[in-house]
Amino acid sequence: MVRKCLFPVAGYGTRFLPATKAMPKEMLPVVNKPLVQYGVEEASEAGMKFMGFITGRGKRAIADHFDISYELENEIRGSSKEGLILPIRKLMEENDFAYTRQNEMKGLGHAVQCGQYLMGDEPFGMILADDLCVADEGDIGVMAQMAQIHEKYGCSVVAVQEVPEDNIHKYGVIAGEEIEPGVFRVNNMVEKPAKEDAPSNLAIIGRYILTPDIFAKIEETGAGINGEIQITDALLKQAQEGNVIAYKFRGRRFDCGSIEGFVEATNYVYENIFKKA
Ligand code: UTP
Repeated sequence: MVRKCLFPVAGYGTRFLPATKAMPKEMLPVVNKPLVQYGVEEASEAGMKFMGFITGRGKRAIADHFDISYELENEIRGSSKEGLILPIRKLMEENDFAYTRQNEMKGLGHAVQCGQYLMGDEPFGMILADDLCVADEGDIGVMAQMAQIHEKYGCSVVAVQEVPEDNIHKYGVIAGEEIEPGVFRVNNMVEKPAKEDAPSNLAIIGRYILTPDIFAKIEETGAGINGEIQITDALLKQAQEGNVIAYKFRGRRFDCGSIEGFVEATNYVYENIFKKA
């Protein structure tokens, strides 16, 4: 059972400037809910009830969001608006939240390293909240699907999606052997390859389950391209030992780190979730 989930939310979100000048990207709302709340709901649904955040300067709004707001709650008590905060109150009651800071942006691998004390010596989920995943109607969420895969294979799991070749240079890309439909034993992984060098069209998106040996692997690999510590390099080491599964998930994923993906997600959630609720 995977009990914990890590949320690296320290990035600057430069693609959303000026919106992200004083506000975390993860607090941008898709319709009426911030991106990070969708991520926490998905982790909680998967049975992960401990949420660990890697934050940075200017990210306090995230911790405030998962805390009580006495004045506001007092103001709307007994009114029809009270119902609007019940879902987040429930989320706060059912889960634990902890925060630590990454004080220099040295890449996703470094952010994960900062989470070592929060995650401890057990497998944990990791959600990049700017990738919004929406389950198909009646289906479980992507992280819950991945928890099932992890339970079966007992190793790290990365969620992958087929991506058109013109976009492949934006992602970590895997190669592997398909061991059951949509499930691959990874044997190679390349971070942001040129399209001619991509080992497949299967791109890693912002959902992972990592076994705790990842911390030692990050330490061993050190900094890669741009002086950043890449998570892909550490995952490749696990893959070389046969310990990474790539999973082609069910459901939809929106790249809300980009303006186009964010607008697409907003339209989709408004039409398919918000209006139907
Ligand atoms: P991104 O590169 O997509 O996010 O990192 P960013 O840097 O915030 O966005 P842009 O490119 O400037 O617009 C993917 C995820 O990893 C986290 C980010 O917060 C984001 O959720 N991250 C990245 C960290 O927490 N620390 C880092 O050093 C790098």
